[in-house]
Amino acid sequence: MPSSPPATYSVVQKSLHWLIALVIILMIPVGVIMTGLESGSFKNNLYEMHKSFGVIVMALIIWRLIVRWRRGAPTLEADLPDWQKWAANISHKMLYLLIALVPLAGWAGTSMCCAPVKLFWSIPVTLPLSGSRETVKALFQFHEIGAFLLAGLVVVHISAALYHHFIRKDATLRRMLFRS
Ligand code: HEM
Ligand code: HEM
Repeated sequence: MPSSPPATYSVVQKSLHWLIALVIILMIPVGVIMTGLESGSFKNNLYEMHKSFGVIVMALIIWRLIVRWRRGAPTLEADLPDWQKWAANISHKMLYLLIALVPLAGWAGTSMCCAPVKLFWSIPVTLPLSGSRETVKALFQFHEIGAFLLAGLVVVHISAALYHHFIRKDATLRRMLFRS
């Protein structure tokens, strides 16, 4: 942990934020669509892509958490009301928790029930886990509910970013951009 917070997000932090956001925003509708499809090669391909991108995003999230822990983040705008500082801190923690646990539950559940998990039909990445039907069901339920909670939180998060930029006209959104 740094002794004092950095003045800005690093390029790595910004890149990971936007890359992970893009993948997650695509993963949620793909997850919902694929589960509702008739069996067939299109459904299988979507499952394979969902799982492969999910495992990749999991690795990026671990990297992001390590960078966050080692480098910290810039302090929030000083003149924000206390309740907004509190809401920002809690929602960022919740976002970090869900982006770590949602893919982990999907990966663990798939490894238990439906191995092998492979990266794009080739590299095996099955976790060495075994569990009962009930455990698998609970993991997939967590995966589904967690993904919907994450989607709700992302909507609030995006609304807050736009509020800061267009209504409060402060630097919050700009400091997550590459050219501020
Ligand atoms: C951040 C990453 C991920 C997000 C946001 C996400 C999101 C979702 C969503 C929204 C669904 C549909 C739930 C439903 O309507 O039943 C789903 C289903 C599924 N996901 Fe993920 N997922 C992610 C990562 C993963 C990973 C890493 C794996 C496995 C390696 C995985 C495996 C699955 C499977 C097997 C299903 C179908 C479950 C079923 O048939 O009931 N997901 N995911
Ligand atoms: C799945 C989508 C997203 C996730 C999971 C996500 C997650 C996060 C997290 C965890 C932070 C806290 C960073 C830290 O303190 O280390 C953050 C910051 C931020 N995000 Fe996102 N984000 C997403 C999408 C977006 C989008 C689409 C926007 C813009 C419209 C956005 C704008 C911002 C801004 C401006 C910050 C900096 C806030 C500040 O420093 O006070 N995010 N995001």
